[in-house]
Amino acid sequence: MVSFEIVRGDITRFPAEAIVNAANRYLEHGGGVAYAIAKAAAGNAREYIRISKEAMREQLGKGSIEHGEVVVTPAMRLEKYGIRYVIHTVGPYCGGRWDENKKEKLRKAILGALRKADELGIRSVAFPAISAGIYGCPLEGVVRTFKEVVEGFSTEAMSVERVYLVLYSERDYRTAVETLGLG
Ligand code: APR
Repeated sequence: MVSFEIVRGDITRFPAEAIVNAANRYLEHGGGVAYAIAKAAAGNAREYIRISKEAMREQLGKGSIEHGEVVVTPAMRLEKYGIRYVIHTVGPYCGGRWDENKKEKLRKAILGALRKADELGIRSVAFPAISAGIYGCPLEGVVRTFKEVVEGFSTEAMSVERVYLVLYSERDYRTAVETLGLG
């Protein structure tokens, strides 16, 4: 059984073996949580972007990612928190709209990262609220999708035991907890 927990915190220092990045298709890491992870991991974001693009070429053989595809990079300076890998995945752009199509893309993005974590043989993985920031998807929809995908993944998981959804602000944390009826 895979546990799913909502926590409040900064994912760049969250002690999970893998943290997931809410990336864009080109791994540009220009803003939001992507920039924060890139800067914290390599010391400067530009260097981590270079490393990420190189990893994308090696792992996918191309220069962009589709929903469901992922790229793994080393945690570098984040290793001091027990983080070993950063898994880059791409959620949908919503711009305030939420429908079955967006949800399916988010589902693929989350599941792709979970399967990669399992393939890496790790036990704990932490996600930010993918697509709920710059990409403008409603947090409630994002949180419900996370819960559904993690529950579904439970039946196939080999090594992953704990999945965390890390909310950065107190407000988002409360919204997430209330959405799942945990508060
Ligand atoms: N820890 C945890 N969560 C964080 C952190 C952090 N240090 N910093 C930001 N967040 C939260 C935001 O509050 C938001 O709820 O991560 C969530 C996702 O927000 P974004 O980073 O804007 O990601 P997304 O909406 O998926 O947009 C992706 O933004 O950074 C660019 O390169 C990225 O173009 C891509 C786009």
